[in-house]
This record gives sequence, structure tokens and C-alpha cells, in this order.
Amino acid sequence: MSPGVEAIRWQDGRLELLDQRVLPGQELYIPCHTSSEVADAIIQMVVRGAPAIGVCAAYGVVLAGSAAYTLHQDKWKEHVATAIAELANSRPTAVNLFWALDRMEKLIVTLPDSENPFEALNSESKKIHLEDIAANKKMGKLGAELMAESASPFAVLTHCNTGSLATGGFGTALGVIRQGWNEGIINHVYADETRPWLQGARLTAWELEREGIPVSLNADSAAAHIMKQGDVKWVVVGADRITANGDVANKIGTYSLAVLARFHGIKFMVVAPSSTVDLSLTSGDLIPIEERAGEEVTCIKEYQLAPDNVGAFNPVFDVTPADLIDAIVTEQGVVLKPTTEKMNALLG
Ligand code: MRU
Repeated sequence: MSPGVEAIRWQDGRLELLDQRVLPGQELYIPCHTSSEVADAIIQMVVRGAPAIGVCAAYGVVLAGSAAYTLHQDKWKEHVATAIAELANSRPTAVNLFWALDRMEKLIVTLPDSENPFEALNSESKKIHLEDIAANKKMGKLGAELMAESASPFAVLTHCNTGSLATGGFGTALGVIRQGWNEGIINHVYADETRPWLQGARLTAWELEREGIPVSLNADSAAAHIMKQGDVKWVVVGADRITANGDVANKIGTYSLAVLARFHGIKFMVVAPSSTVDLSLTSGDLIPIEERAGEEVTCIKEYQLAPDNVGAFNPVFDVTPADLIDAIVTEQGVVLKPTTEKMNALLG
């Protein structure tokens, strides 16, 4: 298994998810017995992070397939199609979810109606999971190699959580950071707390801390001040969807970091597997941006911060234009200063 914590456990047709809503206070695994429970876990953010929800959705299809065959025999495909639609409805922005479901659907078309699909679905979903870990490790090496071109050691700033918790294992941006730390290129990590859900405070700080990687947590609004101090040489983030022209949807606040980084002459790296790339969309304007409940902004857990009845706007992703990005690192290679032509040349 990869270093770091195991967010998704799958063994013999049993799925358990580390409940990311209660970390770091509690390390609690929640079993998912049905694909509806998986969809609900994605909606409730028991599991989150683009590659991780893709992997979970694939396991959800295995649960759906096996239950549908037991209950409906040669009509199992119809019932799995309903389950796939429910999983696809869970969150709109991360394309990895749709990519994984599409891959499972393509396999289902080739399977006989009259045979139990469990083995075939199980092996495909495990492949998706293991391929994601392998992609993360490859990106870790490529990203660290690129950072090594700057005079090191230096600090990096990251946003949200892109580690073992957000992926099949190891991490995207956090995988590059882990590799950079192991190679002595990085000496410190500034982790944005990532309001409102606090992925940085609760998850990234936890992952880095337990591995002994020096981290300081900062309020998101401290980013400009930190960049001005001069020790940060790269901002390193993940992605939920990258369009054909290299625009990147990622956690709300990423776009402001890219603007700040450009102003301060700091490089901006996006790390994401090719399953996050959506070449069917020409630009980031076309990416559906999830909006979540206003309570995520007005309250912290059960504690209400804002006045009663105040309205809140809670878009949970934003789009960073390709012009502000120095490098997109995928497992298939690196695109420097992304454009449609360069994205197509590598990933088309
Ligand atoms: O709302 P979340 O926590 O699912 O958002 C996660 C992010 O924005 C991550 O940066 C992205 O999914 C990449 S995770 C490797």
C-alpha cells in the first residue's frame, strides 16, 4: 500500500470509507453496503477529492452489479443503470466521477446478461484504484523534478486536501510535496485552512503532521502576506476538472492564489491525473460549479457564527484560467504554460 492513510478500504466486496467529516478528531471507518450508500457518502463528503470519489463510484457500481444480479438475474443491467445515474448525481464538478462511471459502463456493455458480473466489475474497479495510486507516484516524481529546477530548498503553499485522503492513495499535489520533501527540495509547507469546509486545517495539516513534514497552517487570507515574504517558490494544487485549453477547476480560493502567485513572481503548478482532464469542454466557463448549503459558511459544525437568517453564497470550486498556470503535471507528462494545442499534443 502507498504511504499515508487509507481513505478507501475495499476487500472481498466490502467497502469502508474513512469518515473525513470527523477527522482529525476521530478515525472512524463507515461501511457502505449499497451503491446508494456510496452516493450518499459522496454527497455528505464522508469521502471527497476528485480521484477518491471516482474510485468510490467504481466500487459503488460493483455493489450495484452484485446486488442487481442476486435480485433480478438477467435484468441486472437495467438496475445497475439506475444505480449509475444515482452515483452520477452525487457531485457535479469533479470529472473523475463521470470518467470512472463511464469506464464501468463500457465494461458492462461487454458482459453477458446471464452471468454474475461481480468478478469482472470487481477487477475493473480495483484496476481504477491501483492505476490512480500509480499515477500519483509518477506525478510525484515529475512534479518534484520540475520543482528541482528552482534553487532549493524552499517552501511551497498548497490549498485544500490533495493527499492520500483525496485519491486512491499517495496524493496529487500532496504527492509532489511529499516527494519534494523526501528529496530535500522542499523544507516547509504552508497549508491554507480552506474555508469553509476546512480541508486544509482538518485533513492536509493532519496528513503532513503525521508524516513529520514541516507544515504551518494559515488563514486563506494570509496567502498574499506569505507570498510577499519570499520563501515560497511554488504554489502546488490539485484539480477537479481541467478543460481542453488548460483551464482548471479546483477548490474555491485556488483562482485567487494563482493571481497572487503571478503578482509575486511565484510559480503555479497543478497536479492531476489524466482522469481529471475533460477534453470535451473547450474552456473552464463550461464546467459546472457545485454550490453547497449556506450553513457550511454560516456555521462551523453545529456552531453558528453568522446572524440568524443571513443569506450565504457557497460556490465550492472556482476556475483558474490557463494563462495563470505555469505547469500542469499529469502521469502522462507535463504541460508547461498550457494551451489547447499543448494539452491536445499530450492528452488528446
Ligand atoms: O470539495 P472537495 O474536498 O472534494 O474538493 C477537493 C479539491 O478541490 C481537490 O483539490 C481536488 O479534488 C483534487 S484532490 C487530489
